[in-house]
Amino acid sequence: MTKSKFDEKFRPQFHFTPEAHWLNDPNGMVFYEGEYHLFYQHYPEGTTWGPMHWGHAVSRDMVHWEHLEVALAPDGNGFIFSGCVVVDWTDSSGLFNGGTGLVAVFTQHDTDPDNGQPRQRQSIAYSLDKGRSWIKYPGNPVLTEQIADFRDPKVFRHEETASWVMVLAAGDHVRLYRSTDLISWSFASIFGAEEGSHDGVWECPDLFELSVEGYLSKKWVLIVSIGDDPDYPEGSRTQYFVGSFNGYSFVNDNVPDCVLWLDHGRDNYAGVTFSDVPAEDGRRLLIGWMSNWKYANQTPTENWRGAMTIPRVLSLRNEAEGIRLVQRPALELQRLRSGKRHWNNILIAAEHSHAIEITDNRAEVVALFEPGDADQVCIKLGTAGHGQTIIGYDAGNQTLFIDRSASGIIDFHPQFACRHEMKLQPDKGLIRLHLFIDCSSVEVFAGDGNGVMTDLIFPDAGCGTVELFAANGHAKLVSLEVFNLHSIYEGMGQMAATNGTIG
Ligand code: FRU
Repeated sequence: MTKSKFDEKFRPQFHFTPEAHWLNDPNGMVFYEGEYHLFYQHYPEGTTWGPMHWGHAVSRDMVHWEHLEVALAPDGNGFIFSGCVVVDWTDSSGLFNGGTGLVAVFTQHDTDPDNGQPRQRQSIAYSLDKGRSWIKYPGNPVLTEQIADFRDPKVFRHEETASWVMVLAAGDHVRLYRSTDLISWSFASIFGAEEGSHDGVWECPDLFELSVEGYLSKKWVLIVSIGDDPDYPEGSRTQYFVGSFNGYSFVNDNVPDCVLWLDHGRDNYAGVTFSDVPAEDGRRLLIGWMSNWKYANQTPTENWRGAMTIPRVLSLRNEAEGIRLVQRPALELQRLRSGKRHWNNILIAAEHSHAIEITDNRAEVVALFEPGDADQVCIKLGTAGHGQTIIGYDAGNQTLFIDRSASGIIDFHPQFACRHEMKLQPDKGLIRLHLFIDCSSVEVFAGDGNGVMTDLIFPDAGCGTVELFAANGHAKLVSLEVFNLHSIYEGMGQMAATNGTIG
């Protein structure tokens, strides 16, 4: 792997991207024998969506990735759509001769020869060598139903009922199945036809238990992505439900029309969580696909297309309006920090901005401010005189917004140029924003993980400046920290030496 391969314009330097060609959903994320595995929807022949394969990479820190061979390629049962990988610790499948190994559970998509209609069925494959090679189960597919949209299985172990549980998407609802051996599956329940958002087809569910911060109680979280629909400018996005689960069925704690969004930006889709993170770590880690089906095939990149979000740690918090999902950047990212600069107590106004130069179009920025009497406090990213993206806090409406309508290259899709927002209340009069800027994306974590906005941007003149200012009044920048970030492609030899060799 040469550095130049990753030097292309807009190529993220600390987000995962494929070596070349197309990427969409993260698949099969699992931790096994010291390695995080990231599989992904991949078309290895082109930079637009095509016959789907599973690309594959491994990492010891979820930040530096080693690209491996394609793990699963289409066969007589069709393309390889999204799915998951679990560790079969007890050889419940009988595929590992009494040992342990990895089992992939995924959708195969083909055309039904009987009626010429698209068909989706679930298959499995297993690996005896830490994911380096895969054997497709000869009895595939292992789960079929007469349902057109029937995909994206996510499997987890439910010890209380000594069973594997599969949640998968079926058009306008999710279906739950159970198994003792990962091979034969029996139907357990359905959820969701009348709940949450139905602004698009349901895809890529995940179901897991999480602690509520500061309480002994735990709750179950069901994540469901919803596909693009031309009627909705937001395009594809991800919602979540909070409730309870008894091994067979999920019950929503909230009223059916309560809609909770995982991310308030436009570019975090199909996110799911890692399986088998060791109990002593205990984190629930999510990575999403940093794009949107509305324009994913048209984004202005050259040899590759598609990136993942940074890894995020999930938890739950009891807020005034109910229990809500909290997301914080995984601490491993701090290993990339270098050259911290910081400032305190700076008064900003329209005519008195605070501008910081950043290098190589990337930085991590933590800003804490008091909106004061200003209508808006804004962070402008870009290069003066060229396209700029505005991340702003509107004090009157108590909203955080991203305006990328003049962010650079915007003409590849009519709905890319937009402004969108989320509710954000100050905490003791203060607003905290934590930004990750990486060539063609910005992720904004607001408050203490209260909300996230993830957006792609294509600043054709680069992103050389971060400028803070206030509109119609004065605000106080209580503190500002700016970190330079190493590229994950720098010193790869060194990383391998620190981490031990991968593979
Ligand atoms: C979500 C999705 C999945 C499907 C895959 C195909 O982005 O549409 O439902 O399995 O992408 O690439």
